Amino acid sequence: MGPVHQGQLYVGGRWVPTRQTLTVRHKYTGEAIGVVGQADAGLVARAVEAAARAAPVMAALPAHRRAAILARIAAILQERKETFARTIAAEAGKALKYARVEVERGITTFTIAAEEARRIHGETVPLDAVPAGEGYFGFFVRRPVGVVAAITPFNFPLNLVAHKVAPALAAGNAVVLKPASYTPLTAVMLCEAMEEAGLPEGAIELVVGPGATVGDLLVTDPRVGMVTFTGSSAVGRAITQKAGIKKVTLELGNTSPVVVASDADLDLAARRSAVGAFYNSGQVCLSVQRIYVQRAVYEPFLERLAEATRAMAVGDPLQEGVDVGPMIDVAEARRIETWVREATEAGARVVAGGRREGPVVWPTLLTDVRPELRVVAQEAFGPVASVIPFDQLDEGLAMANATEYGLQAGIFTRDLGAVLRAIRALDFGGIVVNDAPTFRADHMPYGGNRQSGLGREGVRFAIEEMTNVQMVSIRCPDGV
Ligand code: SIN
Repeated sequence: MGPVHQGQLYVGGRWVPTRQTLTVRHKYTGEAIGVVGQADAGLVARAVEAAARAAPVMAALPAHRRAAILARIAAILQERKETFARTIAAEAGKALKYARVEVERGITTFTIAAEEARRIHGETVPLDAVPAGEGYFGFFVRRPVGVVAAITPFNFPLNLVAHKVAPALAAGNAVVLKPASYTPLTAVMLCEAMEEAGLPEGAIELVVGPGATVGDLLVTDPRVGMVTFTGSSAVGRAITQKAGIKKVTLELGNTSPVVVASDADLDLAARRSAVGAFYNSGQVCLSVQRIYVQRAVYEPFLERLAEATRAMAVGDPLQEGVDVGPMIDVAEARRIETWVREATEAGARVVAGGRREGPVVWPTLLTDVRPELRVVAQEAFGPVASVIPFDQLDEGLAMANATEYGLQAGIFTRDLGAVLRAIRALDFGGIVVNDAPTFRADHMPYGGNRQSGLGREGVRFAIEEMTNVQMVSIRCPDGV
């Protein structure tokens, strides 16, 4: 299990040992499972330099060759999918069944990128629509931005890397990847696959290290044409302040709401909300955190949701049958414990869970919460969700929308009118109907409004972000 290149990083097309290394641990047992290289400032500079040299090579690579390389990466992932899944489960603490889903999604993301690489195109522009454009012929093309710095989180060590690397390569960019220090082994294995797939030298660079040093060096480097980041809103804000004039896309947090209307299929709503709240220990940007339920069905819904929550098997993520593993570390688990205690001290009731052992927090459902509590108002990024009653649908929608975030929101109803009202009322990048807002297909536009981000991912949409529009205006010879 795990990568071949222990204690090394991938810079300038070769694996290089580093002075300092980092031991990666199994998040449930705490045992050492691998060693990864750590970049210093000199190595980051070498990586950016190599990517800058590779950028024109990538830009000149024909679309069918970029597509073939991406398809080959997908094929290698397919051959090694169980190794990838087990590595993800161990280093991220994600239950094996969901780690397997993540690997399937990663394969899909690279496959879609291979397809999209063949259809990156511009449009003609009718310049003679204005008098000044008479006698001109116009069109625009899309050109790669050059070097993309991809800074990725721990919660999807493969697929959220894929969502940055695959479209960047499809568009003809070179990439410097900085994966989360909690989960770098999957990224090392992915770089091994990319090397085998025949990516040109320098087109993928792997550097690991703290955001405050390695991340900042990438964000502020003028040779980097674009920063694409997934993580917390606080770090996202800091990136926009430091990046200077370069493209930035940010995929940030959420306090995902779900509205359950009185006509909803309650079994479905309870089942999907439980999975949406607690899979990966709630460490998903789309994790269900606030569940607003119309008063007429509040009690029967809560009963079903509590039952689905208590039925979740908690334990070692590598054991088959486990639904919920540990959080990423004990400090995070303690933070959730503190937030829950703060809520109960303010009068909240624990309906399920409310227990912590080491890094493991049992899926926790709260009722009787006040809107200003941290469990409601701030992104929990942990296995805790609150159930809140409302009377009229518009009131429930207003409560769901009363947040600074805006990634995805969900509504369970059979009423088309209610769906249309929800679409109007909810200022979110995505609205999910009759499923939890954790739903995501890898080709759909994905990203947040308000404090949840800038720009969109979902391969075609990421390619648009990772290219510059170049307008061509041709003054036609007289008489043409
Ligand atoms: C995220 O946590 O932002 C990604 C969710 C997903 O891709 O399912």
